[in-house]
Amino acid sequence: MNQSQNQVNKKILLAIGGGIAAYKSADLIRRLKERHFDVRVVMSQSAKEFITPLTLQALSGYPVASDLLDTAAEAAMGHIELARWADLVIVAPATANVIARINAGMADELITTTCLATEAPIIICPAMNQQMYRNQATQDNLANLAKRGVTVWGPASGSQACGEVGPGRMQEPQEIAQQVELFFAPKLLQGQSILLTAGPTQEAIDPVRYISNHSSGKMGFAIATAAIAMGANVTLVAGPVNLPTPAGINRIDVQSTQEMLNAVMLNVDSHQIFIGCAAVADYRVDKIAEDKIKKSTHDMQLALIRNPDILATVANHHPRPFTVGFAAETQDVEHYAKDKLIRKKLDMIAANDVSNPELGFNADQNALKVIWTDGQQDLPATDKQRLASQLLTLIVDRITFSQDHQQ
Ligand code: PMT
Repeated sequence: MNQSQNQVNKKILLAIGGGIAAYKSADLIRRLKERHFDVRVVMSQSAKEFITPLTLQALSGYPVASDLLDTAAEAAMGHIELARWADLVIVAPATANVIARINAGMADELITTTCLATEAPIIICPAMNQQMYRNQATQDNLANLAKRGVTVWGPASGSQACGEVGPGRMQEPQEIAQQVELFFAPKLLQGQSILLTAGPTQEAIDPVRYISNHSSGKMGFAIATAAIAMGANVTLVAGPVNLPTPAGINRIDVQSTQEMLNAVMLNVDSHQIFIGCAAVADYRVDKIAEDKIKKSTHDMQLALIRNPDILATVANHHPRPFTVGFAAETQDVEHYAKDKLIRKKLDMIAANDVSNPELGFNADQNALKVIWTDGQQDLPATDKQRLASQLLTLIVDRITFSQDHQQ
C-alpha cells in the first residue's frame, strides 16, 4: 500500500479559531487535499473576521459550519455527526481563548462542543502573542490537555503579526500537513531498529578551519522522523547540522568521519536496518595543525588521506543489518549508483542526482532512484518528508520479499 492510498478516506475536521493565522487555513486545506485527505471545516465566529467561509467551502468542497445553533447546518451534518465523522480533529489556529475553553470542557460554541463530542484524536496548533503563550495560564491549559491525550504541534518561534518576536506562531501549513501524513503512517516498522547517518562530516585542518560539504541533514532527519512514525526505534548519528532532534529519536552527534564510524560500529549490532544518508568526507587532512595556520604570500598545499568507508564497513560486518546506501552524483547517476551497490555489497542504494540545486543538498525537496540487485524504482521529486516515507516503505517491501524467498 503506498502512502497516498493509506490516506484516502481519512477524514480531517479542521477547527479554525479566531486569530490572524486563520488566513493560513486556506493553504492548510489545500495541502491536506493534495495528500488525499477528506477535509471538513468548522470555524469560530471570530475566525470569519480573518477568512471567509466561502473560501474554505470552495477549497474543502463542503459547507462550512460556524454556528452551534444553525438549523440549516444541523440538518446537513450536525455537530455531533461531524465529531463522529472525523478520524482526526485539528484545531488550527488554536488561540489562547479556544485552548482555555477546550481545557475547561466548554460546550457553548461549535469548536469546543465538537472537541468535547469527538472520540477522534485531537491536535492543537497554538497561535497567539508570545506573552500570551508564555503565560502560566496558557502553559497550564496546554499541559493539562496533553495529560488528557491531546497532542500539541508547535508553536514555532519568530516575528509575530503584533510586531513582537518569540514563540506563538502557528506551524506552517506544509509542516502540519506533513505531520498529519506521518500521523496516519502504517506501523510497518513496528519492532524494528534503524541506525541512520545524516548530515556532513567535518575534517579539521587547524583549530579554526575544516573540510566539509553542503549537506544540511534534512534528508536523513526526514528519514528518522518517518521511521519513528512507522513504529521503528531509531538511532541517528548526525554530523554537524542545525536541526532539532525529532521526538523519540536517540541522537548521537559527531563531527569527523572517524567519530561517525565509531558511533555506527558501537550501535550496529543492535539494529536490523542501516541507512547511510550522511555525506561523509572521503578525505581528511593528514596532519591537523595544532595552531591556526598563518597565511603567507605563497600558495599552500594540504596532504589529504583517505577516510574509512562507513557504509562498506557496515556491509562487511557479521551479522550485518539490511544495508542501504545513498549515492550523490552529478553525472551518470544510475551507473555510479549501481557500481556502489555492487562494490560496497549493499542491499539497496538510493541514487541522488545532486546536479539540480532545487533538489538534493540543502533543498527541501528531493528525488531518488532506488536500486537493488534485480530491480529499481523511481521516487519522483517531492518534499523530503514524504520521500523518506516512500523510501522506508520500499525498504520494508524488499526486506519482506527477501524473507519470503528465504523460507
Ligand atoms: O543533507 P541534505 O542537505 O538533506 O542532502 C541530502 C544528501 C544529498 C546528502 C543525501 O540525499 C545523499 O545523497 N547522501 C549521500 C551523500 C554521499 O556522500 O554520497 P557518496 O556517493 O559520496 O557516498 C556513497 C555512500 O557511501 C553514502 O551512503 C555515504 O554515506 C557512504 N560513505 C561515503 C564515504 C565514506 N567515507 N563513508 C561512507 O559511509
